[in-house]
Amino acid sequence: MSFPKIRMRRLRSSDSMRRLVRQTALSVDDLVYPLFVREGKGLKQPIKSMTDCFHFSPDTIAAEALEVASLRIPAVLLFGLPGKKDDIGSQAWAEDGVVQRSIREIKKAVPELLVITDVCLCAYTDHGHCGLVKDGKIDNDPTCELLAKIALSHAQAGADIVAPSDMMDGRVRYIREALEGNGFENVAIMSYAAKYASAFYGPFRDAAESTPAFGDRRTYQMDSAASAEQAMAEIALDIEEGADIVMVKPALAYLDIIYRARQRFDCPLAAYNVSGEYMMVKSAAAAGLLDEKATTLEVLTAIKRAGANILITYFAKDVAKVLLDKPMG
Ligand code: PBG
Repeated sequence: MSFPKIRMRRLRSSDSMRRLVRQTALSVDDLVYPLFVREGKGLKQPIKSMTDCFHFSPDTIAAEALEVASLRIPAVLLFGLPGKKDDIGSQAWAEDGVVQRSIREIKKAVPELLVITDVCLCAYTDHGHCGLVKDGKIDNDPTCELLAKIALSHAQAGADIVAPSDMMDGRVRYIREALEGNGFENVAIMSYAAKYASAFYGPFRDAAESTPAFGDRRTYQMDSAASAEQAMAEIALDIEEGADIVMVKPALAYLDIIYRARQRFDCPLAAYNVSGEYMMVKSAAAAGLLDEKATTLEVLTAIKRAGANILITYFAKDVAKVLLDKPMG
């Protein structure tokens, strides 16, 4: 069967027709909004490297969380910038740490909003690596013990989901054991399972002040040219170790990985539309080269169509406004 019996354009002939045959629909239920909290008071400081993103402090974060929840976004993802850094990142598991206090503030103000916390050392260590450094190398197993301590401290403060982003081997197992052993068996783990060493994290590293002081992250984050099977192995291991949700990161340059993971695994799949992807759209729109709203919707629809059902994006509030028919911005 072919032309003229088949005319592909028939089903594109009007907006109603296109809506009827459409398959991928974005929903506010898919969205996770990342937030940055830093030591200080009364802060809502614009982040230079990330347009329309801010540094909040623990006393201002609840107001922002309320706004996020009012847009019906189900979850925020918290990143912390401590007042002081040291070689082991000890502020990362401090009971009165910036993230721990922020979790309590958010949970007090908006208990129904899910709080996901980034579990990593890079913003807390003076060398900026995601793990402990021994003889110039990142020391895997002792790092896992600290990551479990961080995750537990977040759970104790009230986090619903902990999200290890460090890419150490075995960290999901350490975290799952620490949670189970301390009465937090219902705290979920969303692992950054297939996380690539990526140039797209540039704006975030300025925002989180987490650029490594020496070397790079290539001995722990995945190589972008590695086989897709390596990504599947990373994801399978994390699921086996106790991850409830797995993530592919970045999203746009890794849609093939998202697609494969969706075919292979049944658990919820998150994709992180990272800072560099965000700023490519923002800066092109600011330069008058792209329509920001249309580009954003197209990008996020593609990530969902590839198979992700959780979209972590700095565009979350804007998209929620579009989906709820409110003006963007
Ligand atoms: C920390 C972490 C990074 C991101 C999330 N968690 C940076 C990195 O690994 O260097 C990047 C997020 C983004 O670019 O939006 N390990």
